[in-house]
Amino acid sequence: MLNRCRFPIVLAFSALFASFACKKSNPAPDAPRTPPARDGVGAPPARPVAGGDIVIGEFGSMTGATATFGEMTHRGIELAIEEVNAAGGVLGRKVRVLLEDDQSETPQAVSAVKKLIHQDKVVAVLGEVASKRSIAAAPIAQRAKVPMVSPSSTNPELTEKGDYIFRVCFIDPFQGTVMAKFARNTLKFDKIAVLRDVKNDYSVGLANFFTEQFKALGGTVTLDKSYSEGDKDFNAQLTAIKATAPQGIFVPGYYTDVAIVAQQAKKLGLSVPLLGGDGWDSEKLWEIGGESLEGSYFSNHYSKDDQSPRVQKFVTAFKTKYQKPPDGLAAMGYDAAKVLVDAMTRAGATDGKKVRDALAKTTKYAGVTGDITINEKRDAVKPAVVLKVTKGQFQYVETIQP
Ligand code: PHE
Repeated sequence: MLNRCRFPIVLAFSALFASFACKKSNPAPDAPRTPPARDGVGAPPARPVAGGDIVIGEFGSMTGATATFGEMTHRGIELAIEEVNAAGGVLGRKVRVLLEDDQSETPQAVSAVKKLIHQDKVVAVLGEVASKRSIAAAPIAQRAKVPMVSPSSTNPELTEKGDYIFRVCFIDPFQGTVMAKFARNTLKFDKIAVLRDVKNDYSVGLANFFTEQFKALGGTVTLDKSYSEGDKDFNAQLTAIKATAPQGIFVPGYYTDVAIVAQQAKKLGLSVPLLGGDGWDSEKLWEIGGESLEGSYFSNHYSKDDQSPRVQKFVTAFKTKYQKPPDGLAAMGYDAAKVLVDAMTRAGATDGKKVRDALAKTTKYAGVTGDITINEKRDAVKPAVVLKVTKGQFQYVETIQP
């Protein structure tokens, strides 16, 4: 089980044995004794340059509505850094990850990144999963010129926040196209309804990209309804949707809400498949939604059933450490940490500007979620997979190239 303590949490990784302890968060040992800079005011704070551990910040939803996103991403990062340290670290130094829990809340995500950058003086930041929280926190990293790498935030707006902001995942115009093509060409659907979370940048964006593509492919969106994250009653929207007789419903939300939508749809006798995106990826999806999700489909970043040696090696290492298989979040966290370390190695430094430049040049990095090439917009270009929800498993259906 993941070490759960109230934040701040310090996770220290030693070369051979990872020791996870709840301690008070202290600045990096080699942090200069300057007063913390106020965000956006004056020169960026000096980063530790030599000696001691290399300290990387991570902010994630360890608790709250999307707790499995934070937990699984963190486990992927832990495993990656443990492997890096076991192989001698980076630039002759060990890497340490300082984790801040943002409780699945946007204001907390912003405070977490401010703390990591201005108080803890981390050299780079990993996070977040939810696009809304990444988008809100990115300007802090950008102003301080500290590279930020999101493992899995897919809304295009994120990397538009500036040239220090990167992601190692594909973006939603592609993900929306993947599911539109799948619905239209593979499932042969003509009519689909959409149910989007209006409080969620990711959901709104993905709903729009899907709609645009599904229509472009000759399909019809029978009705487009909304809800707000955390809602518990979807009967009004689903009743209206049922009246339009769609062949499927596109629900690009996060797992907690989607699972309840699925149950209520079934109760209303609306037994068409639901379609969605990476936000469905959680073991809780089936735990909450159960049979009502049977036969539904979603797009994702990776499948643990991919038989390529690099994926299977990762799956085995992860299972050995955590006694459960890695989901897409864990795989993306792992790749984000490894891509960052790779950039530091190529930069030969932990200096923000140099690491930024090296990150921008990432080409065909062999990740467990595919080969990662960072394009001129600081997004990754890579394939997506479609998974089918069946008997509590996410079964691999197909891979779609960009
Ligand atoms: N892509 C989602 C977002 O941008 C987050 C997510 C990624 C959720 C991967 C689950 C799996 O908000």
